[in-house]
Amino acid sequence: MKFFIDTADVKEIREANELGLVDGVTTNPSLIAKSGRRFEEVIKEITEIVDGPISAEVISLEHDGMIAEATELAKIHPNIVIKLPMTPEGLKATKTLHKRGIKTNVTLIFTPMQALLAAKAGATYVSPFVGRLDDISQDGMGIIQEIRTIFDNYGMDAEIIVASIRNPIHVLDSALIGADICTIPYSVMLQLAKHPLTDAGIKKFLEDWEKVPK
Ligand code: E4P
Repeated sequence: MKFFIDTADVKEIREANELGLVDGVTTNPSLIAKSGRRFEEVIKEITEIVDGPISAEVISLEHDGMIAEATELAKIHPNIVIKLPMTPEGLKATKTLHKRGIKTNVTLIFTPMQALLAAKAGATYVSPFVGRLDDISQDGMGIIQEIRTIFDNYGMDAEIIVASIRNPIHVLDSALIGADICTIPYSVMLQLAKHPLTDAGIKKFLEDWEKVPK
């Protein structure tokens, strides 16, 4: 399973990349706003750090505006993936970009049928949001299982990016289901590396090392 990092914070991206954990990056308008930097500037800097797919989201709600934004974003670097909302206009733009050979990530997916529609329109990636479903007492991981089954039933090419990840269990469940990618906040990546017995083991080894004659 590939790991994307879900942030526009270049410091976090550099650190996670040094750990060998970053196969790609996803951003969204909220994450860009949190970075406090200009959109194109931060996306360009990310392309200089990570050699993998980097999702940059359009703001327009109509096909022509989405295509105009996508065309400019795609010029930044060949690794740019255009993130589009899961709407009829977003699907239309996905189809247009697919025909032009530009990769897309259809975002804000909350049902398996939305994922199927995005895949049929030619999306490279679909992004179902598990955390936001859990937040409203719906089964986020349940739709990942359903999307996996549907895509396997019909040999769909689109890759499933599990998005809106909140904790290590989301990542574990995604791997067990066979999702292609998890896009993970840096804090959750660090949580995945932690175990109290690892820490206790290191402490004990260092204490015992002090007893070794020098
Ligand atoms: C990634 O593509 C999504 O935009 C992101 O995972 C959403 O996460 P959130 O629900 O924590 O905002």
